[in-house]
Amino acid sequence: MIRRSVLLGTGSALPVRAVSNAELAQTVETSDEWIVERTGIRNRHIAGEGETTASLATGAARAALDMAGLSPQDIDLIILATATPDQTFPASATLVQAALGIDDCVAFDVAAVCSGFLYAVTVADSMIRSGAAQRALVIGSETFSRILDWEDRTTCVLFGDGAGAIVLGAEESTDGKRGILSSKLHADGRHNQLLYVDGGPSTTQTVGKLRMKGQEVFRHAVVNLASVLTEVMELAGLAPTEIDWLIPHQANARILDATARKLKLSPDKVVMTVDRHANTSAASVPLALDLATRDGRIQPGDLLVLEAMGGGFTWGACVLRV
Ligand code: UT7
Repeated sequence: MIRRSVLLGTGSALPVRAVSNAELAQTVETSDEWIVERTGIRNRHIAGEGETTASLATGAARAALDMAGLSPQDIDLIILATATPDQTFPASATLVQAALGIDDCVAFDVAAVCSGFLYAVTVADSMIRSGAAQRALVIGSETFSRILDWEDRTTCVLFGDGAGAIVLGAEESTDGKRGILSSKLHADGRHNQLLYVDGGPSTTQTVGKLRMKGQEVFRHAVVNLASVLTEVMELAGLAPTEIDWLIPHQANARILDATARKLKLSPDKVVMTVDRHANTSAASVPLALDLATRDGRIQPGDLLVLEAMGGGFTWGACVLRV
């Protein structure tokens, strides 16, 4: 028998307040035209009072559990990918655990910025396949609005807040056709200064603000995303032409178009949400996955590739048959 992690449900949660480019242009020296042309972003959600990474994560987790038809007590593992935790410690995953009323489970955060969700999925999948977990909540949740320098127009227009979650469950079958078929993670710490936060408990004792050299990140993103996608398809023994849906990290519509072109993938196979959510870091892949599941684009049997790249640099991808 082959033991795999299969997708049982998806969910998401967004802050109540939506902010258009035009609204942003009232306080930041920018324009709707510039943002749309350079990034494809039209809208983002910004967390208000009482909305935090953990509260959004809990909302997304509840929706994913509902879709899976499970109760919180069925979960024995929570991994939350975030770069904007509610507290430096303990892990925001434990706040989600408490909010869901789960008496005992494994709960921890993963910090890999925009590729955090891919890191979290890969760890959860390893634990499920090894027998260390049966049913996992894997969440990406961020409130980047709270670490943005709102005076820096080169970064503050690009990000938004939100959360996405999935439930993964162990399934044994003879053919192993369903579930996570392959995954691959990478990191290259030499690129720290291209995308980072200029503070932290052990250096400045402050939270810090996001800093990015956008153009250089852009160049690395296209190369790394195309190569890791090829890698996971080879690991799964499948050809890129078999992909039904590519669900990439949503940083910039131009990165998604360039990656699809490089891989000769039709743009209609790429799920695009950057227009409505902007870049929500670790939340962007599960938010896009949930949207395309709920609007009926993703159907049982479809072959999905999830992929992301972000600060570190870190990047990764996984192949999943639903
Ligand atoms: O999530 C992690 C991964 N992150 C990414 O993948 C982000 C990757 N990078 C990008 O998406 C793009 O590089 C950006 C969207 C960040 C920037 O786009 P770009 O086409 O590389 O623009 P640029 O940085 O070359 O800036 C072009 C011009 C500059 O003016 P000059 O020097 O040509 O006079 C900027 O000052 O646009 C100006 N500019 C703006 N103008 C209006 C920069 N930001 C803004 C703004 N509004 N918000």
